[in-house]
Amino acid sequence: MSSTAVIGLQWGDEGKGKVIDGLASDADVVARYAGGNNAGHTVIVGEEKYVLHLIPGGILHEGKINLIGRGVVVNPAALLEEMDGLVARGVPIEERLRIDGRAHVILPYHQQLDGLAEVWRGEGRIGTTGRGIGPAYADKVARTGIRVADLLDPDYFRRRLHAALAEKNAMIERVYGQKPEFDESLADQALECAERLRGLVVDGGALLRQAEADGKRILFEGAQGAMLDLDAGTYPFVTSSWTGVAGIAGGTGFPARSLNRAYAVTKAYTTRVGEGPFPSELHGEMGERLRAAGNEYGATTGRPRRCGWFDAVVARYASALNGLDGIFLTNLDVLSGFEEVPVTVGYRDGDQVLTEFPADGAVLERLEPVQEVLPGWQEDITAVRRFEDLPETCQNYVRFLEQQMGAPIERISVGPGRDQIFRGENGRDCLWT
Ligand code: IMP
Repeated sequence: MSSTAVIGLQWGDEGKGKVIDGLASDADVVARYAGGNNAGHTVIVGEEKYVLHLIPGGILHEGKINLIGRGVVVNPAALLEEMDGLVARGVPIEERLRIDGRAHVILPYHQQLDGLAEVWRGEGRIGTTGRGIGPAYADKVARTGIRVADLLDPDYFRRRLHAALAEKNAMIERVYGQKPEFDESLADQALECAERLRGLVVDGGALLRQAEADGKRILFEGAQGAMLDLDAGTYPFVTSSWTGVAGIAGGTGFPARSLNRAYAVTKAYTTRVGEGPFPSELHGEMGERLRAAGNEYGATTGRPRRCGWFDAVVARYASALNGLDGIFLTNLDVLSGFEEVPVTVGYRDGDQVLTEFPADGAVLERLEPVQEVLPGWQEDITAVRRFEDLPETCQNYVRFLEQQMGAPIERISVGPGRDQIFRGENGRDCLWT
């Protein structure tokens, strides 16, 4: 019996898809616990590329159960589209996918409200993915949300939807001054989706607790990253869920104290999509160069990602608050060819140097990074499969990051392929025990 979590250490897009895919081959159950189809987890299998948004990353493996946990917000139409895409590529979805009935649903008005709220915020906009994530979680907390299980009872669902629509339409019309687009015909569309999902709906917490009791291996798949966490992240420029290890128990019904291991994935540099503080961001030519080298465009929205050097203050903070056993370092190959690779080790705020990540949004807006500049390496490292075969300056860079983070680097990824990964200098053979 063993349970392991993998989360993002930065602002999402760390390469979790590939890491989850690798660990999933030794898991029995893979469970998502937060976020929704704002996520985009990319897995490359041979020549084939899969981008998963809502469906957990064990779906491409035979014999694994993939659970969409109760903390996820599920857009039924988007889920069906993703399922159909996988079925068309020969993935037996119905055998492998389960959805917790307690998960909340995203309906079309959530998506419209997401867009309207962003326009309303103007300069203060968050830069959301526009998928209706925030409004769906807001309804959950306000206790006006609708859950997957509610969709399975047409009369009950129609009553809940009727009440929700009255409120949403009033908001769209009176607050945002727009013509409401949605009426009760929404119910028919949602119920049609529900019929197709009915056979997959379960009590996810019970499924996980039983799997644990049966000695199965469970992998918890984080979405987004620690710095987008509603409480721990760069609020208000965050997503609306608990993206870190702390989100797992609430987002699945698996007892918090039963989790055995927690790993995080971090890029060898930093990226961010959307607005908000990013102390190590590179502007101008160097930022463009890093974006081009890493092909840094969003997997969900296609937006260019903001790019910057590795931020050890972020990594130390996120690592400590999630109690990590180890780290997966990704995209190290992208740094080949840079003469120097600076690492942000502190922040300058006036005449003070901060080494802890500050909570204060005003401080975050004005601080400057304090950097330690390390020598780069020119060699292409995409074919390297042993730490000892990395160029010496590259080995030293990895050692520096490891020392900064205070957790061992278990694996190093040097390209998108399933085989382009190897053990870090202090990595263990088995990541489950
Ligand atoms: P939302 O989750 O769509 O509400 O967006 C809130 C913030 O989180 C925005 O800055 C998004 O760009 C960011 N975000 C949400 N999901 C992801 C992701 O999977 N990767 C990277 N950024 C994300």
